[in-house]
Amino acid sequence: MIAFRHQTLLQELSLRLSVTDHCQMRCRYCVPSLDGDMCRQTNILTYEEIVTLVRCLQERFDLRKLRITGGEPLVRPGLERLIGEVSALGIPDLALTTNGIRLPQLARTLKKAGLRRVNISLDSLSPDTFRSLTGSAALRQVIEGIDAALACDLRPVKLNMVVVGGVNDAEAGELLDFALRRGCELRFIELMPIGPGRRLFETGFVSSEALRLQLEKTFEFSALETTLGSSARRYRVSGAGACTGSAGFISACSNPFCHDCTRLRVTADGRLLGCLARQSGYGVRELLKSPDPAAIERVVRRAFSEKRSDLTFTQHTAMASIGG
Ligand code: 5AD
Ligand code: SF4
Repeated sequence: MIAFRHQTLLQELSLRLSVTDHCQMRCRYCVPSLDGDMCRQTNILTYEEIVTLVRCLQERFDLRKLRITGGEPLVRPGLERLIGEVSALGIPDLALTTNGIRLPQLARTLKKAGLRRVNISLDSLSPDTFRSLTGSAALRQVIEGIDAALACDLRPVKLNMVVVGGVNDAEAGELLDFALRRGCELRFIELMPIGPGRRLFETGFVSSEALRLQLEKTFEFSALETTLGSSARRYRVSGAGACTGSAGFISACSNPFCHDCTRLRVTADGRLLGCLARQSGYGVRELLKSPDPAAIERVVRRAFSEKRSDLTFTQHTAMASIGG
């Protein structure tokens, strides 16, 4: 029964590929400490190795979804080259998760290279709160980055807000309004107790349900259908004035979507993970030397069979090293 389920999910495989664990930001829920070990030198996969891996996965599974993540993927030099090469392989849904800082300079080049769409983190519109959560003073660049993505038609542009009680939760309505006005989809992300998120979680967890109840005072929500493998509960939203659009809630804790999870993660140093809640994964670098698609398929199946089936997170690594 479970094997059958994995088979169905594998048909919708969605690959999340981390290309670096470096990042210019220091989000409190993501990076180990202020001086952090984010800059530890990992032995990252080369672009050539990544393209080989993607080609193998395409050959063995019908790979239609690929998301490039980090760390912050846009700090890796020449990312447009990788985008160009995987786009040439014909992956229809090619997306990027970014903190947005470098998008003002790079959005056009990425679009030309074949990138389809972006998700951009935006936790606050207040420079002070933004700085306290992300350790960065780059709010202006991030907003310019959102506008650059829209101008280059990297749509749908989705904005990710990690909701931290007592820090940015009171701003949820303002962020939703900001997103609706620009035609972006805002996704409210429940804080997860992984890596440095653990300590914040104790004081700052806000459930999607509680947040939606708070927002319903100002916005009207009507549920949209969910698609297999989607982590977000999506709603049609209308706000004050003529503002309408959609928004999502990602509730990894209060309403886990593990049962439908079609994600396969590749860490920057080339480990395959079937689940965020797993510790170490399977190294694939050796299998890429003289590419062996059948061996890679076996590893993918093994990783997939290890999807979390309970509600506990055991992961101690920060998201930055495994990709958001
Ligand atoms: N809880 C929830 N989301 C997290 N991210 C990183 N760490 C956490 C955490 N502890 C998400 C950020 C960003 C992506 C890169 O990962 O929202 O959008
Ligand atoms: Fe960087 Fe994203 Fe982690 Fe923030 S959440 S530190 S932007 S990788």
